[in-house]
Formats: sequence, C-alpha cells, structure tokens
Amino acid sequence: MKDIREWELSLADKIFIINNRLIEVVSSVEPHLDSMAKYTIEAGGKRVRPILTLLSYSVAGNGGYEDAIDLAVSNELVHTASLIHDDVMDKSDLRRGRETLFHKYGIYNAIVVGDYLFTKGFELASQYGQEVAKVLAWGASKLAEGQVREYFNMGNLEMSEDTYIRIISDKTANFFAACAKAAAMAGGASKEIQQDMHNFAYQMGLAFQITDDILDIVGDQSETGKPIFNDLKQSTITLPIIYALARDGERGGEFRKILTSNIPAEERNKRIKEALANTGALDYSFERAKYHSEKSIEYLGKTGKSPSLDTLMDLSLLVIDRVSSAF
Ligand code: IPE
Ligand code: IPE
Ligand code: MG
Ligand code: MG
Repeated sequence: MKDIREWELSLADKIFIINNRLIEVVSSVEPHLDSMAKYTIEAGGKRVRPILTLLSYSVAGNGGYEDAIDLAVSNELVHTASLIHDDVMDKSDLRRGRETLFHKYGIYNAIVVGDYLFTKGFELASQYGQEVAKVLAWGASKLAEGQVREYFNMGNLEMSEDTYIRIISDKTANFFAACAKAAAMAGGASKEIQQDMHNFAYQMGLAFQITDDILDIVGDQSETGKPIFNDLKQSTITLPIIYALARDGERGGEFRKILTSNIPAEERNKRIKEALANTGALDYSFERAKYHSEKSIEYLGKTGKSPSLDTLMDLSLLVIDRVSSAF
C-alpha cells in the first residue's frame, strides 16, 4: 500500500485538472457570488469523491478518464455544497483550514452559495444522461435525510448503534456509493459491476465516516483543517460515545456523568477522550471502520481486473489509515 502522500502524488495530474475545472465551472458574472463560490473550493480538500469517480469510470476496462472529468467535478460540487450547509448545521467555524463560509459571509449567503454549487453540480452531471444524473440525485437526497436524522438525534444518549449506522449510511456512504455507481454506469460497466462498485463505495463510505468521527476526538486540527470535539460540542452522538454509554453500567455510570457535566469544555473533553480510550470505545470504533474497509475491498475484488483496481484498493486502505497515526 502507498502512503497518503505517494498516493496523492500519483494522482496529482488528475487532481490538477479537477481543480482547474472546478474553478472554471463555478465562475459567475456576479462578483460576490463568484468569490464566495470559489472560497471553499480553493481552500482545498482531499478530493476523495472526484478521484473515486474517475477511478470508478475506468473500472469497465476503459483506461481513459478524460471523459469523466465533468462527472468527477459534479460530485465534488455537490459534496462542497453539502459541507457549506453542514457547517451551518454544526455551527462550525473552521473548514479546510479556513474560516467557514457561513462564519465569514453569513448564513444567508451560505444557503445560496450551497444551492448554487448543488445546481452547478447537477447541470454538469446532466451531460451523462438521465440515468447517471438520477443516481447522483438519489445520493444527494439520501445525504439530506441523513443530515436531518442526525440533527433530530442530537443529545439523544439512548441512540442505538443501528441508528448511527443509518445516519452515516445516508449522510456519507450512500453518496460515495452514488459517485462510484454513476461513474461505472457512465463508463459502460455491466449492471453487475455497477452494483459491485456501489457496494464497494458504500462500505468505504461507512469506514470513512467512522474514521472521521474518531478524528473528531483524537485528530489534529492542523491536519484535518476543522475543529476537533465539534461533534461533542453540538451533542452529536457518534460511535465511540454510543459504545462507551452502552457499557457505562459496569462503571457506575461514570461516562454519562462526565458527558452531561457542566465542567469547562477543555477539561470535559480531556476526560471524555481518556474515558473513550480506557473503555476501549476508540479501539472498537477503529475495528469497525477496518471491518467496513475490508468489506469494501471484497466487493472491489468482484469487479475483476482493471487499470484502476490497485489505486481504488489503496484508497479504501488509506481511508482508515489516516486515523492509525492519531492513536
Ligand atoms: C467531510 O468530507 C465530510 C464527511 C463525510 C466526513 P471530506 O473529509 O472528504 O472533506 P474534504 O473534501 O476533504 O474537505
Ligand atoms: C458531514 O458530516 C456529512 C456530510 C455529508 C455533509 P460531519 O458533520 O460529520 O462532517 P465534518 O466532520 O463536519 O466534515
Ligand atoms: Mg454534520
Ligand atoms: Mg460537520
């Protein structure tokens, strides 16, 4: 397996093309909209979804990726729009190492810039035909369902692991699945391979979100480019918390007490992090992410030999690898 830097370097030419096209397609004659639309895009980001799209396009055996650039860009636009709106919902002040768009320009502008990027994304995707656009629309509508389900479970300390998985399936994994399936479809893959790519990306998406939730606790803000402990600050319940709460009876309800205490945030976060490490909640969550990454690779294996197979496999391994250094 390549490390993340080598992997990114091997894809640098594709990322360069994607970045240029992103800027080109969001340009607007309205100067304020033009600069706000470019603001979050120019801040960077890992570009996981457009890369997943390009690689999935080649899985049908077609080595070329040039014809899939607009589809990849479309997926990144929908993703970026969802991040802009997500930061409003999560009251987050930092994204991709920059002040969030809503923090800098206000919620009203964040709403309209998000809408603008969504529509630009779907406009681009429409080139690939109705069926492809429909798959993406499905993924984006699932994302909204997941976001709302998460919102209405904020502070719900009784939330089950099943509900958590349902939330992250919708807000993250189904959109990954849609990116990969739509790309395989556009690339002319068989129905069977389209489904395998859907399943591959869905499992990878679960691993990705679980990892992201672990990084909210053990990550480094200078690496993730977003605030740590923001889930806890917003009372968003994630897998490590669910695990620790489920086993709290054995420890006299100590974890629940820390979680609901009024002690200053810094001290509380420190104690929560310690408790999550001591109860095995972080290890459990990591194992769960690993399980989904392994499962994704099983599905990928079913698609047969293709030029992008090894790079896609590395992607799934790297998704969970970004957390191992944080432990
Ligand atoms: C953040 O996605 C939202 C999640 C699904 C966790 P990314 O981690 O892909 O964000 P960027 O695009 O790299 O900023
Ligand atoms: C983002 O979820 C999910 C989206 C698809 C927008 P999070 O709220 O967990 O992601 P971050 O941590 O802010 O990137
Ligand atoms: Mg969120
Ligand atoms: Mg968020």
